[in-house]
Amino acid sequence: MITRAEDVAFVQRLDHYRRRVDAKLADVLHPDREVPERLLDAMRYSVLGGGKRVRPLLVYASGELIGAAEDALDTVAAAVELIHAYSLVHDDLPAMDDDDLRRGRPTTHRQFDEATAILAGDGLQALAFELLATDTKLAAHPERQVKIVGWLARAAGPAGMVGGQALDMAAEGKRVDERGLERIHRGKTGALIRAAIMMPSELGSLSNEQRANLDVFATDIGLVFQIRDDLLEVEQDTATLGKNAGSDAGNEKSTYPSTLGIEGARRRAADTHDRAVTALRSLGERSNGLVWLSEFILNRSY
Ligand code: IPE
Ligand code: IPE
Ligand code: MG
Ligand code: MG
Repeated sequence: MITRAEDVAFVQRLDHYRRRVDAKLADVLHPDREVPERLLDAMRYSVLGGGKRVRPLLVYASGELIGAAEDALDTVAAAVELIHAYSLVHDDLPAMDDDDLRRGRPTTHRQFDEATAILAGDGLQALAFELLATDTKLAAHPERQVKIVGWLARAAGPAGMVGGQALDMAAEGKRVDERGLERIHRGKTGALIRAAIMMPSELGSLSNEQRANLDVFATDIGLVFQIRDDLLEVEQDTATLGKNAGSDAGNEKSTYPSTLGIEGARRRAADTHDRAVTALRSLGERSNGLVWLSEFILNRSY
């Protein structure tokens, strides 16, 4: 069990990690890059000044498992957040979920225009891979660097986030069974969260068994994240979420609450979370940060 004193310590540690990744993101999106001004403005708008930074926090917490140096993780943390931010910009486009509000502000295509939002997303995606490919610390171990790039590319790609998004769009207005819904959620949201947790493991030496257990945790906690996201859309208000609370219903999305009911969805999230945390046990005390974050993911109110 996590005591209150430990809670305070974790919150401070997470604040510290959040500041690190925010500094890194501000640095890579610095205005003096050779990028057209409006495009860079849209990229900065989409990434800076909002967001819970859950994926970067998972990167740092996962790095604790292998005692990785924080400065070796900054690039990995920033890269996964750039991919996430790009996915949100495209997810909100009129051709997709057609949302006007994100992180408490107008969505990128609303603040700028559709073409700029599309290009900003494209730019953020490429920038994420440029970061990983040009990081001097990662380059000290090229085999590890390539594996990390592979994790992020697979997670972002057609068998991961983009694949999940395609299935999510195809399922609008249809009834999807539970297996189909799980596949959508593991793809559109779970894949990137899994990669955030697994990428740091390439920087250290976990046993095969520990790595397999970490992967069970990583895969399941990504599903929990999206079940909770579905629940928040029906339980929470737009002001708290910083995005439109009625969006899923308006788009006739298949969600866990619409498929299992609110109680069923809550139970599924809790059971999946239990399974995930049980898998972490073999990793001992160093996994406390991940356990703490997993509880936030299960219980979050925004
Ligand atoms: C929202 O993700 C979209 C999903 C993949 C569910 P987050 O809830 O992590 O969004 P931000 O980054 O905090 O805005
Ligand atoms: C977001 O899924 C998944 C990605 C952006 C890849 P949703 O469409 O369910 O998330 P919100 O509610 O817009 O954040
Ligand atoms: Mg969507
Ligand atoms: Mg959406």
